[in-house]
Amino acid sequence: MTGKTADRLVLKALDGEAVWPPPVWLMRQAGRYLPEYRKLRASAGNFIALCTTPAMATEATLQPIRRFGLDAAILFSDILIAPWALGQKLRYAEGEGPLMERLETLSDLDRLDLNRLKAGTEPVMEAVARVRAELPPETTLIGFAGSPFTVACYMLEGKGGNFARSLALTYSDPGLVASVIELMTTATIDYLSWQIEAGADCVMLFDSWAGLLPPDLFRAHVIHPTTRIVDALHLRHPGVKVIGFPRLAGLMALPYIAETGISGFGMDTATDAAALARLLPRSVALQGNLDPLLLRAGGVSLDHAVERIAGELAGLPHIFNLGHGILPDTPLEHVAQLIERLRSLPQRLLEDSREHATSRI
Ligand code: CP3
Repeated sequence: MTGKTADRLVLKALDGEAVWPPPVWLMRQAGRYLPEYRKLRASAGNFIALCTTPAMATEATLQPIRRFGLDAAILFSDILIAPWALGQKLRYAEGEGPLMERLETLSDLDRLDLNRLKAGTEPVMEAVARVRAELPPETTLIGFAGSPFTVACYMLEGKGGNFARSLALTYSDPGLVASVIELMTTATIDYLSWQIEAGADCVMLFDSWAGLLPPDLFRAHVIHPTTRIVDALHLRHPGVKVIGFPRLAGLMALPYIAETGISGFGMDTATDAAALARLLPRSVALQGNLDPLLLRAGGVSLDHAVERIAGELAGLPHIFNLGHGILPDTPLEHVAQLIERLRSLPQRLLEDSREHATSRI
């Protein structure tokens, strides 16, 4: 890293460095809780247009940075833009979330074409380049994709929910599930690689539904494709950092961290940060994991939770975040309170944690 790039605190943490106080960004930090986002969203008409018009995607990405001065910006897009670019029909219905024309059989996969990915995601790459050019030099830019399993859940189900059909298919039509995951693994390697080339400093894989799988299928559909993606990205972009977020993985977090080659692990709300930290190789950064409901609730409980989470991970590489996305009805003042509280955490908390660590040995 050279010059100002060296000041990007999120990258430092991903490099295994303990930064105090920890850098902070929030999952879904661009979104409906921001009045300026709601205005932009209304002017765009539909959500896909918002994601695929570079000027608008750039604006949405920068809005939370301007308002709160977070340490990282995350590209404004969605995990379903990649399968959409391959040719799968997608729309976002008000109040219903994403709706896709679902894949019924292997032959439906013929409608999807890897050769379309480049042209279909060109506007995303332009947005990445514009954001990087406009961001303050010390702000990290995070590119992202959905992980193959989570994206496959939507492709096979056609909508969100409990993914009963997608999960049943893992047993009744394993060939279909494996083919969709294979296609998305190949697509994701290119898609993330292009984001890095366009200016993303690091990338994150969102695996929101990983925790629905039993251990053997978690290995096959989560750990294996994630490892392939991380290995391929490292080959193409030596040293690039990948953050993994296999939500609700439970104990499978351990082989996921040990085997995939990720540099950062996104902890969901249910993760005991202190317990996980004790089990880890020091070089993996932990990201998370304030309860989004507590951010919405605010008050002194919010202050205490910020202090507790940061305190538990003090002296370790940590990126402060939520355990899942910010809720649309979160008051803006609570976000400001969180950041202020975090940035004014006393040095004492770090020193206390050091004493604690020494007394444990
Ligand atoms: O974090 C950010 O600010 C960057 C943008 C981002 C969005 N979606 C924008 C978005 C990111 C990183 C995502 C990831 C995403 N999308 C995930 C993984 C993370 C998670 O929350 O589990 C998933 C599962 C999706 C799929 C998706 N997209 C759903 C289920 C929905 C509907 C629910 C909702 O929050 O509205 C979306 C739509 C979506 N993606 C919106 C935004 C801002 C809202 C659309 C709108 O403004 O109308």
